[in-house]
Amino acid sequence: MGKFILGVIIGLIGLVLAALGFTMMGFFSTQANAAPPRLEGRVANRALVASMQRHAPRVTNPLTPSDQNLIDGLNIYYENCALCHGSLDRKPAALAKNLYPPAPNLISDPPDEPEWQIFFTIRTGVRYTAMPAWDGVLAEQDLWKVTSFLSHLDKLPPAVQEYWKDTFNVASASGGEGKDHNTKEGH
Ligand code: HEC
Repeated sequence: MGKFILGVIIGLIGLVLAALGFTMMGFFSTQANAAPPRLEGRVANRALVASMQRHAPRVTNPLTPSDQNLIDGLNIYYENCALCHGSLDRKPAALAKNLYPPAPNLISDPPDEPEWQIFFTIRTGVRYTAMPAWDGVLAEQDLWKVTSFLSHLDKLPPAVQEYWKDTFNVASASGGEGKDHNTKEGH
């Protein structure tokens, strides 16, 4: 029994050393412009969701989704997030696929998580990815405004859609060739 355990321990140490050697000899790619293998993506996503369930406080958005707050959120998004997450002119972000893991397009595919979850991601970022923590960079209020904007993307009130259209010359994510319901006017 003692010998068996010793064997297992030596085996494990060997494995760790082999992995370390493999890494130190440069066998792992560090390039960001590659697509993560599916299994890696799945495991990482599960780990992210589980960690969020454990760590994120279930806070409620202190702001009302008023036209002005949503327009502020839109501008905060445009200035800080569009670069990676997709511009408001509906063009994909040039950087999105050059990040590892890639940045999701939040305009064409708005997050459907609850606001506390979106807020937590924005405030604390996602470790080992290009998603920065915005805590201390943007004011708490602004974090909530951009959260509101993202969680209302497919149901923006008319005044905000109007503002979007006037500013970026394209229909908002809630209007035009939007994804579902309320947009099929049949013309
Ligand atoms: C430098 C690039 C970069 C910038 C700038 C950036 N993000 Fe991200 N963001 C990412 C990446 C990459 C991910 C994906 C992380 C992952 O795979 O878990 C991400 C993930 C997210 C998610 C989770 C999306 C989902 O579907 O689960 C949200 C929400 C988000 N970002 C919001 C923002 C907001 C709001 C801003 C601006 C205040 C912002 N991001 C700025 C790179 C960026």
